[in-house]
Amino acid sequence: MANVTVIGAQWGDEGKGKVIDWLANRADVVVRFQGGNNAGHTIVVGNKTYKLSLLPSGVIQGKLSIIGNGVVVDPWSLLDEITRAQGQGLGINPDNLILAENATLVLPLHRDLDGAREARAGAGKIGTTGRGIGPAYEDKVGRRAIRFADLADPEALEVKIERLLAHHGALRAGLGLPEARPDEILAQLQELAPKILPYVKPAWRILGDAIKAGQRVLFEGAQATLLDVDHGTYPYVTSSNTVAGQAAAGAGVGPTAGGYVLGILKAYTTRVGEGPFPTELNDETGRLLGERGHEFGTVTGRPRRCGWFDAVLVRQSIAVGGVQGAVLTKLDILDGFETLKVCVGYRLRGETIDYLPAGLRDQAAIEPIYEEMEGWSESTRGARSWKDLPANAIKYVRRIEELIGAPAVLLSTSPDRDDIIMMLDPFQG
Ligand code: GDP
Ligand code: IMO
Ligand code: MG
Repeated sequence: MANVTVIGAQWGDEGKGKVIDWLANRADVVVRFQGGNNAGHTIVVGNKTYKLSLLPSGVIQGKLSIIGNGVVVDPWSLLDEITRAQGQGLGINPDNLILAENATLVLPLHRDLDGAREARAGAGKIGTTGRGIGPAYEDKVGRRAIRFADLADPEALEVKIERLLAHHGALRAGLGLPEARPDEILAQLQELAPKILPYVKPAWRILGDAIKAGQRVLFEGAQATLLDVDHGTYPYVTSSNTVAGQAAAGAGVGPTAGGYVLGILKAYTTRVGEGPFPTELNDETGRLLGERGHEFGTVTGRPRRCGWFDAVLVRQSIAVGGVQGAVLTKLDILDGFETLKVCVGYRLRGETIDYLPAGLRDQAAIEPIYEEMEGWSESTRGARSWKDLPANAIKYVRRIEELIGAPAVLLSTSPDRDDIIMMLDPFQG
């Protein structure tokens, strides 16, 4: 039985949440494998709008949802999100939500550090979501993080807090932050423990048993390839690997368990935060894309930067992410544009190149080479079948498939769950 791994193929906010919610109907288990509450997904089901951040997008369909070991979890934020979701009628409980016992906690001191560093960096800031994600991952690889399992062992917790503060004490002093008190952190975590521990389990085993029993698993990626800490526009990236290869390590399964790799792409390009963006439009067209696409960050409310579709970047994302099929979202936002442009190559200091170089200065210096296409005046919003699409919209999709080297297997034409055109069922792919 096939599983599916969903990843973003641009700079995030491609509509992964909507697609995962829709696909969850065909799955038994949905598991997050990286990122944290820097992710934000808006999912519209009829007249209800759900905003999810840490909860796997399978919770809306009531599927078994797992937050894997590769995720960094702000437990207070998670509890708030659970309460909010329950208030919207979602039945979330320790039977259908599982937290990996070896997942890392994001603590208030991580947020402090994220905020203080960004403030100090001034114009050189990354433009993070301010959720403490980077500092939490640093502590994880620095082998001083607090993990869920530690909450069950108060004595070990005390020692771990000391070890953590040995590192953070110096950092905080250097940044002019007030001293972090070990007794306060211990008290906060002890207060938290009884609320969170019922969800904490060996997720790897539950997932492994589900796979053995032939259940279908949907691996849910957050962020996207161009924000990947290795493959993205470093250092303007997030602090985790976002590519499909991370699904196995971040969920605790083998490398072949991820199954079919589905890359989500917006029919144009957006980015929140700082960093290179070759096809960015600082003009009326960019403004129009943002306005029509409601391009404001779900997490921070910041306006997203907008530009034309960059086929060079997506082709590279597809290659490094092992993407087998693409989902093109927000096609409807392009309705009514007389002409559309697609970036098909770059010019760098007089030479033509067909990939994104890794050097930051090169990334900032490249100029896009565009191909123009005729737009369409008809509405595609809410289209649910290929035959409802205008000829020029079909041409646009076909050209993108050619340029990125992967077939479009699904198309999304509105925020609503059911407005999807399926060419191929990824679970059968
Ligand atoms: P994610 O982080 O990848 O899950 O994406 P976000 O939820 O942050 O951002 C995508 C936004 O686009 C959300 O507000 C969705 O409701 C919306 N959306 C998703 N698919 C479509 C679509 O096909 N058309 C339109 N107009 N909006 C969409
Ligand atoms: P979803 O899952 C878009 C961006 C931030 C910043 C950079 C680093 O909704 O697609 P971080 O807080 O992770 O250290 O910030 O990454 N970023 C996202 N941009 N969508 C996201 O998630 C993002 N998560 C992080 O804006 O540029
Ligand atoms: Mg988002």
